Amino acid sequence: MEDRPEIKVPFARVDASGNEYQYLKEVLESGWLTTGRFAGMLEEQFTGIIGARHGLAVNSCTSALHLALEALGAGPGTKILVPTMTFTATAEVARYLGANPVLLDVDPTSGLLTPEIVEKGLESNPDAGILMVVHFGGHPAAMLDSDSGRGILQLCRARGVRIIEDAAHAFPARIGDSMIGTIGDVTCFSFYANKTMTTGEGGMVTTEDDTLAERMRTMRLHGIDRDAWHRFSRPGAGWEYDIIAPGYKYNMPDTAAAIGLAQLERHQQMHERRIELATRYMSELQQLVGLGLPACTVPRSDHAWHIFPVMLDPEAPVDRDQLISEMNQRGVATSVHYKPLHRMSYWRQECRLDEAHDARDFPGAEARWRGSVTIPLFSSMTDGEQQHVIDTLEAILEAPTAC
Ligand SMILES: Cc1ncc(COP(=O)(O)O)c(C=O)c1O
Repeated sequence: MEDRPEIKVPFARVDASGNEYQYLKEVLESGWLTTGRFAGMLEEQFTGIIGARHGLAVNSCTSALHLALEALGAGPGTKILVPTMTFTATAEVARYLGANPVLLDVDPTSGLLTPEIVEKGLESNPDAGILMVVHFGGHPAAMLDSDSGRGILQLCRARGVRIIEDAAHAFPARIGDSMIGTIGDVTCFSFYANKTMTTGEGGMVTTEDDTLAERMRTMRLHGIDRDAWHRFSRPGAGWEYDIIAPGYKYNMPDTAAAIGLAQLERHQQMHERRIELATRYMSELQQLVGLGLPACTVPRSDHAWHIFPVMLDPEAPVDRDQLISEMNQRGVATSVHYKPLHRMSYWRQECRLDEAHDARDFPGAEARWRGSVTIPLFSSMTDGEQQHVIDTLEAILEAPTAC
């Protein structure tokens, strides 16, 4: 059998040191496991923290993205602008509805869409109906620019293009006084196992728009006009319901919401720990030869620090795959965010892309992904675990001696 190196620092580890077990026990003992009181409380508390008008708990961010596109009326032929530097979920939901994603490049240092890239994308695609913005890594994209009036949101509003924010990485993050979740038409969060707060699998979709919220609420549960909780949980509520649309099965069960409520109670503490860890990486890794650190490019933006992607320069003593393999040998788990969509066979075929497009249309993403490695960052990470990651990187990249 192959000798596998022992994992000393995992890529992520859930931080369940609060009321997770207690709330889960309460749900199990209540006799009601599916969507009910706990999911309702999670929605209320999450929207309270974000400051959003509506929040719907769902079973993944992918479901949230699908609901958002459907509610905005995306269908066959709708052109949807999507950054290439993202997980496939951001774009795949467009295909569920027969809509057509058009991939946009990103800024090489941040991995984000910029107003300049969006403006170019809108000019080349005047028939685009929707823009998906990804707050890559937890760093908010430049949605608002009160000085120039040329933030991404403002550029889209001027052309009547609707905005969905993929905030899978971005709870809690803000731009100025606005929390992510209150800016675009609809915002979609992920509570997947490695996210800044988790329900195992799950998500939340927020909006300020009553009509969009109503449509997403209906489509979240089979297109039923009244969910089971409201039919069966109150005496005399009545069994009858109607089907008003061909909906989906995207509701969040109370078992997941119980974990989410406990996570939400400690979100600030978990966020502060992520900031502390990221700050230490920033100061201790800055002298390493050939290693680029995450850039904070948007003024007054608060970073959620979901992940910590570093970038190897071409002058680095090892390449990306060597670094990943050597870190793995020393017990440090890593990931890559992301191999861009334009390099994935399905999207290459779907968007009719070939090598000529790579350099011409996606220079930022091309420059970024070749050297990109994501190192462990999670709120339950110990100082010792972080030190091991730092020592490992130093050993591989050999810090230069001071002159
Ligand atoms: C940018 C982005 N969008 C969407 C998703 C999908 O999230 P979920 O797994 O909750 O569906 C992910 C998952 O990691 C993601 O990274």
